[in-house]
Amino acid sequence: MSDDSVELTGPDLATGVEASSIRAGQLIAGHAFGEPVLLVHVEPNWFAVAGKCTHYGGPLEQGVLVADTIRCPWHHACFQLTSGAASRAPALNDLPSYDVAVENNIVRVTGKRDHARPKAEGYRTRGASAPERVLFDANPAAGPKSVVIIGGGAAGNACAEMLRREGYRGPITVIEQDPDAPYDRPNLSKDYLAGNAPEEWLPLHPKEFYAAQRIEIVSGVEATGIDTQSKSVQLSDGTTLEYGRLLIATGATPIRLDVPGGSRISYLRTLRDCRAIIESLSAAKTAVVIGASFIGLEVAASLVARGLKVSVAAPEALPLERVLGAELGKLVMSVHEQQGVVFHLNRKVTGVDEKSVILDDGSRLDADIVVAGVGVRPNLRLAESAGLVLDNGLAVDEFLETSAKDVFGAGDVARWPDAYSDRRLRVEHWVVAERQGQVVARNMLGARDRFDDIPFFWSAHYDKLSIRYIGHADHWDATKIEGDVMKMDCAVSFMLGGARRAMATINRDRENLVAEVEFETELLLRPPPSVTLEAAEA
Ligand SMILES: Cc1cc2nc3c(=O)[nH]c(=O)nc-3n(C[C@H](O)[C@H](O)[C@H](O)COP(=O)(O)OP(=O)(O)OC[C@H]3O[C@@H](n4cnc5c(N)ncnc54)[C@H](O)[C@@H]3O)c2cc1C
Ligand code: FES
Repeated sequence: MSDDSVELTGPDLATGVEASSIRAGQLIAGHAFGEPVLLVHVEPNWFAVAGKCTHYGGPLEQGVLVADTIRCPWHHACFQLTSGAASRAPALNDLPSYDVAVENNIVRVTGKRDHARPKAEGYRTRGASAPERVLFDANPAAGPKSVVIIGGGAAGNACAEMLRREGYRGPITVIEQDPDAPYDRPNLSKDYLAGNAPEEWLPLHPKEFYAAQRIEIVSGVEATGIDTQSKSVQLSDGTTLEYGRLLIATGATPIRLDVPGGSRISYLRTLRDCRAIIESLSAAKTAVVIGASFIGLEVAASLVARGLKVSVAAPEALPLERVLGAELGKLVMSVHEQQGVVFHLNRKVTGVDEKSVILDDGSRLDADIVVAGVGVRPNLRLAESAGLVLDNGLAVDEFLETSAKDVFGAGDVARWPDAYSDRRLRVEHWVVAERQGQVVARNMLGARDRFDDIPFFWSAHYDKLSIRYIGHADHWDATKIEGDVMKMDCAVSFMLGGARRAMATINRDRENLVAEVEFETELLLRPPPSVTLEAAEA
């Protein structure tokens, strides 16, 4: 999805601006040929790229320049200024780029470049000043005889695309049981469920993209077994597929509540789930959301937007306190209450009947529909039956390789040794899944690219509250609050032993991005992580 409204502000860069008036590193938002354009001077070069991010249209002039890349303030996508290439998710499409000329102290954008998809440049920029070139075999003819990807979600899709960007020419087959995938899963609980986004916005790419990239999506078919000896995957249609390299990116499945009447409870993971919830809304006036999780609360917000009276029942004392702390938990709760949501906290659900949800204090909440968001479990059945090492998830090393040669894992299913926290993590973040898929692609082609991105996620409630979270802190001994939480203008740092482990921000997107760069810079100065796959096996 992108924001198509073109608002032209700033100078006309095609006419030109005075070069000496622009500082090195300054981000100049202007326009050229009727399009928003960002002009940047990274000495000694001048660059011009489109001014809006290709993910959701984030304003790149509010982003952060890191060497010769620009990062988007909204969800931290990264683009190469030299070519506009989208080098780090969540943006999957390149930015248009422009030619720039400087003459007699006037810098001008002279024309839009022909925008056939350029090949990615083969390096990631990890520090504020030091781009690190990742060595890998850039020979397009090289690589495995074939790549099979199980799961066409965030990680699987990103892996397939990146293989082509890196010049891989062999067969790529994505096995995907969901006939609608790949699509923008985070949107399911937000604009799509709220009725603000048409279904056409959901696919990550049109079908023709995959045909043009020669990425075969075997849709509606389940992978039922993996044989790591013969290097083959068995499929539910009875066929067997051999692989040179395999990615397991099977994601996760919602945890189902085992309570009387539980068959009335809906869960939200797939587009099909979402369509079913939307269909059930026509006759509904009241809804109960079970679970005050990110997804549960996003669903509550979207159902309010659809005009329903919504209650949230959850066992904790404050929504999201375990992840965001008490201050942000109170804010989230008050934003929802202002929209009419009624919370029933410190309560467990004991059953569901035709008209209501029953709580452990005997009370009944009116519920024409019931949706639960109480967490997910990684889809491990395949990995387990193939005898791969598990670790509350599919265990992978820092290169995202599993215990079987040539078999990789990425996304919600995978637990990896996180470089920054020096611990093994499994998270459920869209950007992490996509970036892991991208790193797997490079490593399948012979790179030894460590996955050391700092985990990032976002969550959006109504049009009011958008939370960005960088880092990872499942416990902390102090929080440091800058700004005013209740005014929704704040940065909350989660501290452990005096060090910042993570930061959540509201309406301070750039600060969140700066924190990402600071975490990365800190990481660059450290020795490589000590936790490996062997540690998981022990
Ligand atoms: C409603 C919702 C909202 C979200 N919002 C946000 C958000 O705002 N921000 C954020 O950071 N994260 C968000 N997330 C989390 C994010 O979507 C996940 O972290 C991400 O999708 C994980 O990517 P993945 O590729 O690991 O798994 P998935 O995207 O789930 O993809 C896995 C795919 O594998 C397929 N599959 C599984 N087993 C098999 C098999 N045996 N054979 C064939 N195919 C198989 C599945 O059908 C699925 O399509 C949200 C998740 C949901 C459900
Ligand atoms: S809008 Fe730029 S990363 Fe999402």
